[in-house]
Amino acid sequence: MINIRHERPTDAPAREALLDLAFGACRFEKASEHLREGCEPAGGLSFVATAPIPSLAGYRTIPFVLWMNGQARRGEDEAMVGTVRLWHIAAGARAALLLGPLAVHPSWRGRGIGAALTRCALAQARQLGHTAVLLVGDGPYYARFGFSADKTDRLWLPGRYEPERLLSHELEPGALDGAHGLISAAPPLPTQLGRGVSFTAAMHGRMELVEAA
Ligand SMILES: CC(C)(COP(=O)(O)OP(=O)(O)OC[C@H]1O[C@@H](n2cnc3c(N)ncnc32)[C@H](O)[C@@H]1OP(=O)(O)O)[C@@H](O)C(=O)NCCC(=O)NCCS
Repeated sequence: MINIRHERPTDAPAREALLDLAFGACRFEKASEHLREGCEPAGGLSFVATAPIPSLAGYRTIPFVLWMNGQARRGEDEAMVGTVRLWHIAAGARAALLLGPLAVHPSWRGRGIGAALTRCALAQARQLGHTAVLLVGDGPYYARFGFSADKTDRLWLPGRYEPERLLSHELEPGALDGAHGLISAAPPLPTQLGRGVSFTAAMHGRMELVEAA
């Protein structure tokens, strides 16, 4: 079973290792990364996907640890297989969130984990009262969650990026109507402390929301 839960402070080393693996060293050169530099992610909007570590015997654990490229450590009962975080931004004059980086361990891709992380993050953002989410990413992947470039043509980021990859998704219809101007890091608005959202799924099946309490 894959579990999706809020990120904990102790998850940081595994998350950074996973991002290095997914994006390589050039990940810090991305325009969206510059926007996140020196900022804290939005409260309650960092999620990780974890897989249980087989613990029947040491000879089964060690190959699993190696296979996971450092995501799993001996003595732990779970390994991080996916990560997503959201950040406060201003899109022109509108308060919004920036989604990313989203990454799934190469050995665990194609099982719905990226989709479950994204849907979980969007559901929680909506529950916390946020109205719009932006990201820089692949349109063909993010279209399934409702992202498009329809409302980003008058918004821009500092740094180099492909404008057609600047996408948005309104959590509240019309939230980005007429939005124009620079996208910049922004201090958080007062938000509700959210209720948890959690997903569980069969390891080889598509993931489903089983609890949103
Ligand atoms: C993108 C990523 C997070 C997807 O994670 P995942 O758990 O494999 O995603 P899911 O299982 O939810 O979805 C898999 C589907 O998305 C498709 N997909 C994956 N990456 C895609 C992309 N960049 N563009 C279009 N489709 C993509 C797969 O082909 C698959 O299609 P199918 O459902 O028709 O078989 C993962 O591939 C990853 O970590 N990539 C490297 C980092 C990255 O590119 N992050 C996103 C920034 S744009």
